[in-house]
Amino acid sequence: MSDDDPESLPPGPTRRKFLLTSGTSVAASLVAAYVPASAKSAAAVSDSAPISAGPSIDGAVPITLRINGKDHKLNIDPRTTLLDCIRETVALTGTKKGCDHGQCGACTVHVNGRRVLSCLNLALMHDGEEITTVEGLGTPEAMHPMQASFLACDAYQCGYCTSGQIMSAVALLKEPCGPDAAAVKELMSGNICRCGAYANIVDAIQQVRKRA
Ligand code: FES
Ligand code: FES
Repeated sequence: MSDDDPESLPPGPTRRKFLLTSGTSVAASLVAAYVPASAKSAAAVSDSAPISAGPSIDGAVPITLRINGKDHKLNIDPRTTLLDCIRETVALTGTKKGCDHGQCGACTVHVNGRRVLSCLNLALMHDGEEITTVEGLGTPEAMHPMQASFLACDAYQCGYCTSGQIMSAVALLKEPCGPDAAAVKELMSGNICRCGAYANIVDAIQQVRKRA
């Protein structure tokens, strides 16, 4: 059977269909989660009245998470991680869950301007603090320079790690970092890319640093 012979291909997804689907996913990660408000949980995005994260949660605690400049008043199980709260309760799905164990960096967000692994933090630890997710960096029409640079440098493949990479890369701009690629690699070593897009990721970061 030959890949070139359409008659010989089995039914099911083709490589062309797979690549088209993957491209759509990557674009969503770069300027991730510009989810229309109507598609989000109305309760989860309310910024006026406290809301419940579930019908009844024993021991729920009230907190206010300030995410991307907007207050979210929530009643949550105190065991809820910041990652799950951002994704499941507030419905901002640009932040990704990879390992859920602090090993991959996919869940990186900023808290008070510093990068943190949201899977290793409880949401209630950040009551009232300034949280930024990839959705807060830029818009498709006005991307953050780092988002634009990732796009220009083709610094992704499947895109699953990309929002975490970008959040780390933006934080890196304000951290002590030597000028060369080796220094960038060291500071980005907590962000794993299973697709191996590392060379282009470093290029994207270095281009932004050169322009800064
Ligand atoms: S999901 Fe948090 S480090 Fe992997
Ligand atoms: S682009 Fe696929 S894991 Fe990084």
